[in-house]
Amino acid sequence: MEISTSILNVKKENIIQTIYDLEVAKTDYFHVDVMDGRFTKNDTSEKMRLYAEYLNQITNIPMDVHLMVTNIKEYIDSYNIFNPNIITFHLEACKSDEEVEKYIEYIKENNCKVGISIKPETPVEKIYKFLPKINLVLIMTVEPGSGGQKFIEYTENKIVNLKNKIEELKLDTLIEVDGGINLETKEIVKQAGADIAVVGSAIINSKDFRYTISKLKE
Ligand code: DX5
Ligand code: ZN
Repeated sequence: MEISTSILNVKKENIIQTIYDLEVAKTDYFHVDVMDGRFTKNDTSEKMRLYAEYLNQITNIPMDVHLMVTNIKEYIDSYNIFNPNIITFHLEACKSDEEVEKYIEYIKENNCKVGISIKPETPVEKIYKFLPKINLVLIMTVEPGSGGQKFIEYTENKIVNLKNKIEELKLDTLIEVDGGINLETKEIVKQAGADIAVVGSAIINSKDFRYTISKLKE
């Protein structure tokens, strides 16, 4: 599995050093958790914009932008300037299939990969119709809104079912999982079929980023 480190809970006074340390520790992606205070009660938009500026100045490691926002187009526009590798938006923030298709095309127009994320209680079947058009599905294994939460066990089946569907359709859509991933739960999601794991607190709170990331990748 590849690792996308979430910098959501990195303190401002540590962010520059942490970016350098995570680069040396060989994180595969930097995961930027953008919350608008409407889709989620937390609002991280100012902090994540600043962190995205730093990432752009400091590292070439791909940026994995997770939009937990209501006004999706506004945030696609504001993050395009950082040339992210991927932008993921939430299915639950869209009012129609047409709106989903519109954002998929809009993100692709900017040479950026596109992901769709679903919250724990959203049935995975709802994403199937979009699979041929997107690069990645982000399965939330916690309720979006904060780091440091506990992995939600029932999401394992969603990963298994999604993997089966992707194989059945002979697609190469990636499965990314997000929330409560650590050295124990990473085994569950890996066996279930995840290609990328977002990890925040289990890395950021560890004393040796390189060791933790290498164990998570095993
Ligand atoms: C939650 C975010 C996750 C979170 C992961 O809304 O989307 O990316 O920061 O953090 P941990 O790994 O601590 O659950
Ligand atoms: Zn996230």
